[in-house]
Amino acid sequence: MKRILCIGAGYVGGPTMAVIADQCPDLTVTVVDINAQRIAAWNSDKLPIYEPGLEAVVRRCRGRNLFYSTDIPGAIKAADIIFVSVNTPTKTFGAGAGKAADLQYLEKTARSILEHADSDKIVVEKSTLPVRTAQALSRVLHSNTRGLKFRIVSNPEFLAEGTAIEDLLHPDRVLIGGMEESAIEEVAQIYAHWVPRERIITTNLWSSELTKLVSNALLAQRISSVNSISALCEKTGANIDEVTRAAGRDSRIGPKFLKAGIGFGGSCFKKDILNLVYLCEHYGLPEVAAYWEQVVRMNDFQARRFVGTMLSAMFNTVADKKIAILGFAFKADTGDTRESPAIAVCRQLLEERARIRIHDPQALDNARIDLKDAAGDITYCEDPYEAVAGAHALVIMTDWKNFRDLDYERIFERMEKPAFLFDGRNLLDPEKLFRIGFHVYPIGQKPLTHF
Ligand code: UDX
Ligand code: ADP
Repeated sequence: MKRILCIGAGYVGGPTMAVIADQCPDLTVTVVDINAQRIAAWNSDKLPIYEPGLEAVVRRCRGRNLFYSTDIPGAIKAADIIFVSVNTPTKTFGAGAGKAADLQYLEKTARSILEHADSDKIVVEKSTLPVRTAQALSRVLHSNTRGLKFRIVSNPEFLAEGTAIEDLLHPDRVLIGGMEESAIEEVAQIYAHWVPRERIITTNLWSSELTKLVSNALLAQRISSVNSISALCEKTGANIDEVTRAAGRDSRIGPKFLKAGIGFGGSCFKKDILNLVYLCEHYGLPEVAAYWEQVVRMNDFQARRFVGTMLSAMFNTVADKKIAILGFAFKADTGDTRESPAIAVCRQLLEERARIRIHDPQALDNARIDLKDAAGDITYCEDPYEAVAGAHALVIMTDWKNFRDLDYERIFERMEKPAFLFDGRNLLDPEKLFRIGFHVYPIGQKPLTHF
């Protein structure tokens, strides 16, 4: 029985290994993490991350061929194939701060593999990494004098949070890059348990690493392009949702990832683009770097612009006003708040001395952590109706579907008047809300106001 190990039990490693264990009963899958609390949570009834469908998969496999452990040395010794999915945040210090990836966790992982391994291994990069990281990994691993051989494979993850299980079960493609055919094939055989062979693409190591960055950069670029046009729509009277619906019908453009909103968040888009930018600068391509950096700038601009709209609508002051924030996660169906535009928007509102009331069905614990150092009046509300009581404005920050089904007549009753509604996701029907009495400010559309 082949033994698979995953180092790093986070948003990527957690769901990916659960699906591998579920689909491959002939493999033993162990997931380890330095964070003992996280491992305890994976072994408990309350998993450390919220992901639709994940719990059922974990329940089926845990204790059968899926194990969560803190015994990193023992697990390394036993493993044939080691997936590395530790976090690779953007560096906050030293050279490349704010752009380059901080590879300290990856390097520590490589060193611990080296320390504890007593046989040859395949090491699979799963974390999002700057191009040519595999080389660094290989150098560390081959600094051993015991003659151990490590074959490095890049297998970037394309799952999106909120649909992780579905994306893993029915991927558009699985990408495997490597130098040795044999190692690529061993990893391909895992996925071939449930993914049709024609969807398993193999490339050289560097193409695979770069594809991850490029895929995310292209997706984020679509969002920034659309959001840039949303600003123009607000000036001209065009409606961004009409524009993108019509433009997306061109089969060359396609309808996905054209939804205007408050801007993209999540752990990947910004980080990967900045990685790409750093890489281009490093290789002496400043024009290419500037081109991609603009995607991130446009995203920051969109959030600032949104707060600007709120301020100018509410008579240039929100000081002492209660503002209900509905949604804090960076998108629906996740409790993850990494890089969520809600963080920047809330901080700006607090600087303006607004009193904020935050509701999110899954992300309140993370919101508390994100805003723990922010000064001001913040209340976290389990109940959306509690958040809107006495509020001057309601802000939709996350596209949670159930926000559509709230009783907006009741919400309007409970709010101060004039009642402002800023829909950062174009989730709600502006006409309907306007008829209830709200002043409605969607993204990329003329506001509907009563004065
Ligand atoms: C992304 C990639 O989709 C995935 O392939 C990769 O592996 C990791 O990064 P994720 O960050 O989980 O996944 O979420 P995604 O669905 O891509 O959304 C990212 C952000 O863009 C969210 O904040 C979302 O609200 C926003 N978005 C998405 C838009 O504003 N408009 C759109 O049309 C689509
Ligand atoms: P991602 O979204 O990439 O999965 P997460 O932060 O959710 O990122 O998960 C990464 C996990 O990797 C964390 O749980 C972290 O504790 C773990 N980790 C980081 N460094 C190490 C290490 N050296 N050994 C084992 N686990 C590690």
